Amino acid sequence: MLKVGVLVSGGGTNLQAILDAIDCGKITNAEVSLVISNNPKAYALERAKNHNIEAVCISPKQFENREEFHRALLAKLKESGVELIVLAGFLVAIPPMIVEAYPNKIINIHPSLICGVGYYGLHVHEKALERGVRVTGATVHFVDTGTDTGPIILQKAVKIKSDDTPEVLQRRVMEKAEWKILPK
Ligand code: GAR
Repeated sequence: MLKVGVLVSGGGTNLQAILDAIDCGKITNAEVSLVISNNPKAYALERAKNHNIEAVCISPKQFENREEFHRALLAKLKESGVELIVLAGFLVAIPPMIVEAYPNKIINIHPSLICGVGYYGLHVHEKALERGVRVTGATVHFVDTGTDTGPIILQKAVKIKSDDTPEVLQRRVMEKAEWKILPK
């Protein structure tokens, strides 16, 4: 069984999609052994606890500086024997220290077809609508030392409708793309 550590910051619907895929037998060779959130209020932590998965908050606020925070994250991942790291809505940049410790063993879900600095969460959908984009989607990619620059693994396109709001579009991208390609 591949030991997967999932890093989250918010609601955790992508984490839930992975847990559901394990529960229903679509994923047979991996287990989520650890969930880490930088945000103590993330509902994703509750989802992990409901599945009897170790759920911990490691917040930058607990440390004197960013480097100490990064060291604590890496130490927890190593101590738990995690073999694959999945960023499922983790809104913290992964430092070289962690990328180098897990080469090609960190994957991220991004809520559009192209990624870029400063584009995350709902902002991505606000920008797509502002630009009049007709097709958006989601991307699963390897994480390297850049921001959303690692090799692409899977993508799925989602059509934009003329009356979409950022929230409606975000939900459709999650349902039709993210929750499918991340577990896959
Ligand atoms: C998801 O839409 C994910 O793609 C996005 O945050 C949301 C988390 O939702 N991630 C990023 O924007 C990273 N650049 P969730 O907590 O319900 O899975």
